[in-house]
Amino acid sequence: MSAPSSPSTDVAAGHRRAPSVPPGFIWGVATASFQIEGAAQEDGRGESIWDRFCATPGKVWNGHDGSVACDFYHRYPADIALQRELGIDAFRFSIAWPRILPKGRGRVNMAGLDFYDRLVDELLASGIEPFPTLYHWDLPQVLEDEGGWTARATAEAFAEYTEVVVGRLGDRIHHWVTHNEPWCVAWEGYGSGRHAPGRTSQRDALAAAHHLLLSHAFAVEVIRRDAPQAQVGIVLNIDHVDPASASDADHAAARYVDGFLNRWFLDPLFRGAYPADMVEHYGTDAPPVEAGDLELIARPIDFLGVNNYKRQIVREDPNGGPPAPVYVDGARHTEKGWEVYPDGLYQVLVRLHRDYSPRALYVTENGAAFGDVRQHDGSVRDPERCAYLERYIGATLRAIDAGAPLKGYFVWSLLDNFEWADGYSKRFGIVYVDYPTLERIPKASFFWYRDFISAQHRPAHPGSIGSS
Ligand code: FCB
Repeated sequence: MSAPSSPSTDVAAGHRRAPSVPPGFIWGVATASFQIEGAAQEDGRGESIWDRFCATPGKVWNGHDGSVACDFYHRYPADIALQRELGIDAFRFSIAWPRILPKGRGRVNMAGLDFYDRLVDELLASGIEPFPTLYHWDLPQVLEDEGGWTARATAEAFAEYTEVVVGRLGDRIHHWVTHNEPWCVAWEGYGSGRHAPGRTSQRDALAAAHHLLLSHAFAVEVIRRDAPQAQVGIVLNIDHVDPASASDADHAAARYVDGFLNRWFLDPLFRGAYPADMVEHYGTDAPPVEAGDLELIARPIDFLGVNNYKRQIVREDPNGGPPAPVYVDGARHTEKGWEVYPDGLYQVLVRLHRDYSPRALYVTENGAAFGDVRQHDGSVRDPERCAYLERYIGATLRAIDAGAPLKGYFVWSLLDNFEWADGYSKRFGIVYVDYPTLERIPKASFFWYRDFISAQHRPAHPGSIGSS
């Protein structure tokens, strides 16, 4: 494939001081099953909550669904060939629970396991480490019908599912992620209803969040027992939160949002307790915690994955409602309306290291949606994404310099894909997908990242730290 000339950037060009990327640092790309696989009706896959949600009128932009998506299920060999060309060390993907246990528990669908077995082997044969996530939002619909994540029994079913997957793939996987962004699962799925299953209750969201954490703990136990050599962690979406002004009220608003989004998950995982200020705030909606749950949830993990795209600026709502987000005029925003603020990622990483001391950190997702189009010559030029990645990678490297135990960084995403409630309208890929033909067209950012990784892999690399 011919490469258009890469944009010349500080990181790639190595203008700055010596690199501080630790040996063995992993450069990767991230994806998720429902967003790329398609083949929704094939080889015995059961229905997921996202199939049902997409089929519900008005829930997903333009009625889009995941039935074909990027057709990764059939095209994965070609997509792995693209990854080889990119030169990544690891591929983060997720496993679709409904392919493995179509009814959520019980009967195992061997054809589903076979798919991930082939995928893992093809990655390994290509010198790419498989970095699987057990749950990236596609719950079997039958489990939702029995209460979904608001039911404790779903956490038990997750342990069963983990056991089946680890039993088949555990001999070849070095890093397991239990959950992706439990905040989103709980609050978008059960609180705001913007995501599947579309429920709208604070009480349900808090019960879901607790059972997600509990299921994480159960899965960690299974992995420690059945694959003791593997590293295991969880991925959280963590945003840096700034108050809109120096007022006490705005500071309190920022602390509340930090509690709602960040501390509610970090404190139980790393300190064995929900944050007292938020427990008080939720009152009788607080989750059903049973004796021993928090001790289990706080058992040590090997790494914390951080998904970060933006920061939040918040101000107090004078009418007493939840703090309102502030849109910064003049700042750069992506197609999602998210502010481009690399220092937020730096702040998050340094704060996690300082306040929670995880053994290791990975940036498991970072990237940007822009309105990419094909040029007349067929190429896709995305200088905004190149600049975004350069600056956020620079922020990650600065956090390493500041002592944060970073072990890897993954771009979201390899391919344009199904962006949940936004359907296919938001393109996050470094590879463009022409949906009518499913043709893949590497964007300029693909070549930028390829050149950047290759410079990192060169032994006497002259220096590469970007600052932003
Ligand atoms: C994250 C999700 C991921 C993707 C990005 C843009 O919240 O984990 O699946 O949709 O946002």
